[in-house]
Order: sequence, then structure tokens, then C-alpha cells
Amino acid sequence: MILETLVLEADEQSLSLAAALLREGKLVAFPTETVYGLGADATSVPAVLSIFRAKGRPADNPLIVHIYDRAQLDGLCTVPDEALPLMDAFWPGPLTILFEKLPAVPDEVTAGLPTVAVRMPSHPVAAAMLRACGLPIAAPSANSSGRPSPTLASHVFEDMKGKIPLVLDGGPCNVGLESTVVDLCHGKPTILRPGGITKEMLESVLGQEVALAGSILRPLKPDEKALSPGMRYRHYAPNATVTLVDGKEDAVLQKLKELFAAETALGKKTCVLCFSEHVGALEGCSPHDIGSMEHADDVARKLFSVLRQLDEEGMESVFSEVIPPEGVGLAVMNRLGRAAAFRILHAGEVNIHRPSRWLFICGHRPRILACALAGANTICQPRRLLLATRKRVIAGLSQHC
Ligand code: TXA
Ligand code: MG
Repeated sequence: MILETLVLEADEQSLSLAAALLREGKLVAFPTETVYGLGADATSVPAVLSIFRAKGRPADNPLIVHIYDRAQLDGLCTVPDEALPLMDAFWPGPLTILFEKLPAVPDEVTAGLPTVAVRMPSHPVAAAMLRACGLPIAAPSANSSGRPSPTLASHVFEDMKGKIPLVLDGGPCNVGLESTVVDLCHGKPTILRPGGITKEMLESVLGQEVALAGSILRPLKPDEKALSPGMRYRHYAPNATVTLVDGKEDAVLQKLKELFAAETALGKKTCVLCFSEHVGALEGCSPHDIGSMEHADDVARKLFSVLRQLDEEGMESVFSEVIPPEGVGLAVMNRLGRAAAFRILHAGEVNIHRPSRWLFICGHRPRILACALAGANTICQPRRLLLATRKRVIAGLSQHC
């Protein structure tokens, strides 16, 4: 059924319309501080199923439940003591925590998992909507499955027009990438998806080391179980083929120019994603500014918007700079890596420090990963890359072990 989709600025009237629609089991897209969400009553199976239909989302990818008040947790899940300091420090805010679920949460929300992911958004519109409807709201990002998450109401409209009755417009999202998902249910606290609340921030509150799920900076292996089902799916990907270029600053700029020229000569619509500081140096290469290299949070805020723009412009080949995977940079590199299907090219001479850290974080079997990276690379000479990468990995291991 095709619906008329209203896009309304969030105010008292549109918020009460949103609350009424949610109580009727309808879908409403709403802004959060991370990205726009596509909300429905988490306690209604038909409402939850309509989220999966509107997004084209696989049924085995569970949803996050959004609340505005801790009292709402009572019927939803059990809360372990270790979660309390995290809730005190980061709620409301961009942190999602996994809890053991109670029977009131339908299996359709959790894709049959025994845990439910919960978050309390800090965006005033999200908080007001949750309060007005009084329901726990299941909400994935409000994009069609596989597309970059929406950070503007217009992005939601592109993907959801005709499918949902209402988009609440609250302007651009401030964080720009989805929430950090942390698992406290399976032993050592583990980040399943990095976001605005960083590993270091979690560690400083928990007073212990927080692990990173293996597939944050590399593809899942064929036989590997995804700790978070969302990791199994192609994500954040524009239509263009995206390749990341790593290395020393000058070598990266030179490589980007060469790659742009080579792809353009093949007749492909090509551009580069670069830091604000490099827009001038890459003037002839259709530079797309992804934010300052000094501020990962700036890059986080802009990234999805730029990825969507690539589709609007009909780009076929895209080459991007990378940022060190530290702090919010880890979340940026997780999303960029996935947009690029983890295709990474190393420019110029070997930079022992940065790439080795990349690879070290990437997994427990870095040599195999190094081979995989070399194999995935169709543009530079695989043998040279393989030898150079091995050298870096060994250097990296001896530095870190
Ligand atoms: O910032 C956000 O988290 C946004 C806004 C709208 O709140 N929501 C969002 O939802 O990004 P979604 O559905 O696009 O991503 C949720 C991620 C998926 O990767 C999913 O697999 C994972 O969280 N997830 C949800 N429940 C889980 C569970 N019980 N166990 C493991 N992973 C879970
Ligand atoms: Mg999503």
C-alpha cells in the first residue's frame, strides 16, 4: 500500500500526531542524536514486522528498543549491576546496551536472541516523542537496508516515501553515526559496534578493559559467527566502488591523484573523499570534503551525507583517505571500511606505525588478513604489497606483544 508521507517539523502538534500513530501500530521516523530512526511500538508484533517490510531488512537482524525513562526497563529486561555506571554516565546518549530480555519483548524484535538491545536517546525530539507515546519504541536507522543511515529528514524521505505516514524533522543529527553497541552479557564487556561513546570512555567508567568485536575493521570470515547480526550484512554502501587509501600524507595525495586520473581515463565517473585540509591539493580530482583530519567527530557527522551524495551524483569509482582508528575514528573507519568492503590500498613507502595498528586491531591472524588485503587489491602489485604488509605486521606485533 502506498501512503502519503508527511515530513513535519517537530512541534507540539506533530509530536502528538506521531504519538497517536505509534499507539495505532504505525511507523514514524524521528531524529536522534546519532541518526534518524524508524520507530514502531516494540510490544506489537505487527508493528515491528512492518519495520522490517519498510526497510527491506532481513528478519534475523534484531532491533534496538528506545526508552525515555529507566522505569521502562522493568518489563523489558533484567539489568545487571555492571550496567548501572554506564547508564549513569552515558544515558541519555549514543550508547546501546545489551540486556537479558524478558518474555514481554517479542522475539521479532530480538530476532530470537535471548538479549535485547536498549538505548535512551538524548535528542529532545526523540525524548519528547517517546514520552508522548509512553511506549518502548523499536527503531533501526530509517534507511532502506544496505543504504547509508539518514542524518537528515530528507534522507529518510528519499528511502521511505510512500512507505510510512510521518517523518518528524529535527534537523541534522549531531553525532552522525549510529550508537555504540556494548555487550555486557557474555563475559568481558565487548563493543559490537563502535560509535560516539568510545572504547576509552567505556573503559574509564567500567575500570576494566573493553574488547572489540573481531569484525569491526575487517569482513566476517565465512565460518565466523557474528556477535551482532548486523555485521553480516552489506552496509553503508553507496552504489560506487569505494577504495580506501592509507599511508603517509604526501604519498596518499599523490596516489589519489593517480587513481583519479586512471579511473577517469577509463571513462568512469570518479571522485575522491578527502579531509578539508586536502581539498585544495586535490582540486582537479572532484574532492568531496569529509571533514577535518584533526576532528574525527567532524568526519563522523558528515560521512553518511557524503556517501549518499555519491549516489545522487552517479559516482562509479570513489577513493577515500582514512583516519587512524582511535576514539571516534574507530567508528568512522568501521563505517568507511564497510562502505569499501574493506578494500584498502597502501600508498607509497611503508608507514610502520599506522597500518600496523590497523592490522593489529583487525584480528588475531594478521598474516592471513594481510594476504586477504593483498588479494583484494586489484590496483597495486599484490606481491609487493604482500611483502610490505608482512613486514609491517611483524613490526606491529613486536611493538604490541
Ligand atoms: O544510533 C542508533 O543505534 C540508531 C538510532 C535510530 O537509535 N539505531 C540503529 O539501529 O542503528 P540499527 O537497527 O540500524 O542497528 C542496530 C544494530 C544492528 O547491527 C543489530 O544487529 C544490533 O544493533 N543488535 C540489535 N539487537 C541486538 C542483540 N540483541 N544482540 C546483538 N546485536 C544486536
Ligand atoms: Mg542501520
